[in-house]
Amino acid sequence: MKIKVLGSSAGGGFPQWNCNCRNCDGVRRGTLKAKRRTQSSIAVSANGEDWLLVNASPDLLTQIAANPELQPARRARDSGIAAVLVIDAQIDHVTGLLMLRERDTPLPLHATDAVWQDLSTGFPIAPILSHYCGVEHRRIALDGAPLAVHALPGVRVDALPLSSKAPPYSPHRNAPQRGDNIGLVFTNQQNGKRMFYAPGLGAIEEHVLAAMREADLLLVDGTLWTADEMIRLGLSRKTAADMGHLQQSGPGGMIEVLDSLGTTDTRKVLIHINNTNPILVEDSPERRILAEHSIEVAHDGMSFEL
Ligand code: MLT
Ligand code: MN
Ligand code: ZN
Repeated sequence: MKIKVLGSSAGGGFPQWNCNCRNCDGVRRGTLKAKRRTQSSIAVSANGEDWLLVNASPDLLTQIAANPELQPARRARDSGIAAVLVIDAQIDHVTGLLMLRERDTPLPLHATDAVWQDLSTGFPIAPILSHYCGVEHRRIALDGAPLAVHALPGVRVDALPLSSKAPPYSPHRNAPQRGDNIGLVFTNQQNGKRMFYAPGLGAIEEHVLAAMREADLLLVDGTLWTADEMIRLGLSRKTAADMGHLQQSGPGGMIEVLDSLGTTDTRKVLIHINNTNPILVEDSPERRILAEHSIEVAHDGMSFEL
């Protein structure tokens, strides 16, 4: 099973077009030791040729261009992206669906009912795409059964409901539904190796912790270092929790959660990193703290084989 990080940043990307925070300004000027990053997406493949795109980023076309393995060029019109799975209906995870409209067959899209409802109403990408390639909704039922992902033979995919929030434009923004947000477990059925992927983890519930303990590779919420990071910088009024994310530092933070797993040879990687997060700076004290806890920071183009 191959995994490629296409975009390791949170919504907005790094640098964000209108942001002059220390990180964005520094990476733009080349005065900080930090890499640019595109918005949140990974791709998973069983055979290295057919890929499941997990989240369709607004930066999808840039990501395809940067990852030639996504274009096997078998026919006049072709793509290695065989299907898409979205974990929520947020702008940073679904806008790229519009960029796939030139397909000649309907786009297979794995999504929960709650997300499909948002994509049919509040952010009507599905009705819009019906005028182009069309979308074939493959339901993520959250009934405990593994998903049928034809693009990934030999890989078992399980979805876990997460308690977080539907996007601001969702008709059920204020009435959370099961399936607004999910995490994913990918298991290579040949060797039993597992990846757990959850770029938005507002709360660490027991079923989430159990899945994390069993994983060989964790790709988890790396959005913010402190809960009030954006507020302190004067950039937002929202805390990490208001946005459905868990900060890394302090009591109950992600570092503590990852330490508590008690696993030693698991790779622990933070993903979906907001542009304000000091861990983006490779020689920062915060990055050193992560290294002391054997926690890595995802970057665009990072790849794994399980
Ligand atoms: C989030 O996860 O909170 C998003 O990155 C927000 C967004 O895309 O605007
Ligand atoms: Mn996001
Ligand atoms: Zn910034």
